Amino acid sequence: MKLLSKVFLHLVGLYIGATATTCSPSNTTTMVQLSCDEGFHFEILRSLATASSGGSDIGEVLTAAYKITPGDFESYTAAYTELADHVLAQGKALDARKYPVSVRDTMFRAAMYYQSADFYLHGNQSDPRILSLWEKLQGAFNVSLSLLPVPGRRVNIQADGFYVPCIYYKAAADNTPRPTLVIGGGYDGGQEEVYHQVGYAALQRGWNVISYEGPGQASPRRYQSLSFIPEWEKVVTPVVDYITTLPEVDLDALALVGVSFGGWLAPRAAAFEHRFTAVVALDGIYDFGPSTLQSLPSEFQVAFKAGNATLFNALINKVRETPSVSSKFRWSIDQGLWSWDTTSPFEWMTALQNYTLAPVIDKIKGPVFVGDAQNDLFFSNSGEVLAKHLGDRAYYYQFKTAYGDGSHAGVGAYSLQNQIVMDWLKQKFQSRACQV
Ligand SMILES: *[C@@H]1O[C@H](CO)[C@@H](O)[C@H](O)[C@H]1NC(C)=O
Ligand SMILES: *[C@@H]1O[C@H](CO)[C@@H](O)[C@H](O)[C@H]1NC(C)=O
Ligand SMILES: *[C@@H]1O[C@H](CO)[C@@H](O)[C@H](O)[C@H]1NC(C)=O
Ligand SMILES: *[C@@H]1O[C@H](CO)[C@@H](O)[C@H](O)[C@H]1NC(C)=O
Ligand SMILES: *[C@@H]1O[C@H](CO)[C@@H](O)[C@H](O)[C@H]1NC(C)=O
Repeated sequence: MKLLSKVFLHLVGLYIGATATTCSPSNTTTMVQLSCDEGFHFEILRSLATASSGGSDIGEVLTAAYKITPGDFESYTAAYTELADHVLAQGKALDARKYPVSVRDTMFRAAMYYQSADFYLHGNQSDPRILSLWEKLQGAFNVSLSLLPVPGRRVNIQADGFYVPCIYYKAAADNTPRPTLVIGGGYDGGQEEVYHQVGYAALQRGWNVISYEGPGQASPRRYQSLSFIPEWEKVVTPVVDYITTLPEVDLDALALVGVSFGGWLAPRAAAFEHRFTAVVALDGIYDFGPSTLQSLPSEFQVAFKAGNATLFNALINKVRETPSVSSKFRWSIDQGLWSWDTTSPFEWMTALQNYTLAPVIDKIKGPVFVGDAQNDLFFSNSGEVLAKHLGDRAYYYQFKTAYGDGSHAGVGAYSLQNQIVMDWLKQKFQSRACQV
C-alpha cells in the first residue's frame, strides 16, 4: 500500500511542500508563487485576479495569504474569514446614502473574500460554515448590486422541476436592444464571481449580462439540494426564454459563455439551444468524466471499470487522507463529492462518465470560441481536443503562459482574456447583423 501511495503521489503530481522553507520552484512554476502549495497559489491568484474589476485588492489579499499555511485548509478559511469579516464591517459602518460608491466597492470585495473563505470547507459536508459564509457573500453582493449605476437584480427563473437563480445586469437605463451575454461558472465558484471574471468587462462594452447557476453549483446545491446534471440545456434554455422577453435584449446578438467546468457545460447546452449567435468556452472541455478517470493511476481505473466500489473508494480515500497529498487533489475530490451530493467516490466517478460531448458534438452549431490555457493546473490541452472535434465550427485560442494568461480559466489575466474574447464576440455580432 505504501508503494501504491508513492506511485499515486508521483503520478498525479501531488507533493506539497510542508513549510515555506521547503518551497522550491517546480518545472510547472511560471510566475512568482503566492504559496508553496500549488493549489493554494492558484486560489490566491484567483482571488487577486478579481482586483481588476473591484472584487479584491492587492494588499488585502497578500496580507491574508501571508497567514496561510501550505496544505492547511483551516488556515486558509481562517485567513479569508478574518479578511471578509473585517471588510464587511467597514462597509456596514458606511452610510450608503452618503457614500454609495464606497459601500458598493467595499461590499464587492467582502463578497469575494467570503467565497475564498468557503472554498476549502467542502470535505466536511455538514460544516455549517458552508451555508453561513454563503449567506454573508450573497448579502454583501446584494448591497453592491443595488448600488450599481443600473442596479443589478436577482431573478429566479423556473425550469423543469427546479429554479435557476440568476443575476441580471442591464447595460443602460434605456431599452435600446443591445448584445447580451449569458454567463455560467463551473465546478465551484458562485455567479457573483462570474460578474468579476467576465460580466464586468461585458458591461463596460455596453452589453447586458445575465449570470446563472444550475444544479450542482453554488446556490442550487445549497438551497435546492441539487447535484450536477449533464443535460445543461435544461438550465440554459429557460434563461434564454426569459431574456427574449426583455426589450433591451438584441436577439441577434446573444452569446453563451462558460467559465472553467462551464467550458464543458456551455457547449453541452449549445447542442440543444440554438438561439445563440456564438458560444465561448473558457476553457474548452470535451470529455470531463473520461479524462478525470484517465488521470488516475491504472489500479484505480481497473477497480472502477470492474465496478468494485469498495476497492475504488478505499483507494481514493486512502490517498485523500494522506497528509502529504496535494491540496489540489484533496479539494477536487471533496468538491466533487459535495457537488454531486454523495460521500462515495465511486458514485461520483460513475456520474462523471456521462459528462462527455461525444454523443452531442454534431448538434453544436457554432461558432464556438474554444479557449485553452497553456499552463492549466487541472487539464492539459482540453481545449485543443474540443476544437478538434468541432472542426471549422471552432475558433481555437491558446492563452499563453509567457503573457501571464496561461493559468486555468484566465485566472490572473482577465483584462487580456476579456479583450480577446469580447473583440471576437463583437465581430460575430457584427457579421450576424449584416446577415439579417
Ligand atoms: C524538471 O523536469 C526534469 C525532466 O522532466 C526532471 O528531471 C527534474 O527533476 C524536474 N525538476 C523539478 C524541480 O521538478
Ligand atoms: C463536520 O462538521 C460538523 C459540524 O461542525 C462536526 O460536528 C463534525 O465533527 C465534523 N466532522 C468531521 C469528520 O470533522
Ligand atoms: C439577496 O437579494 C435577494 C432578492 O434580490 C433576496 O431574495 C435574498 O434573500 C438576498 N440575500 C441575502 C443573503 O440578503
Ligand atoms: C474488490 O476488490 C477486492 C480487492 O482486490 C476484492 O477482495 C473483492 O473481492 C472485490 N470485490 C468485488 C465485488 O469484486
Ligand atoms: C447517464 O446517462 C444515461 C442516459 O441519459 C442515464 O440513463 C444514466 O442513468 C446516467 N448515469 C448516471 C450515473 O447518471
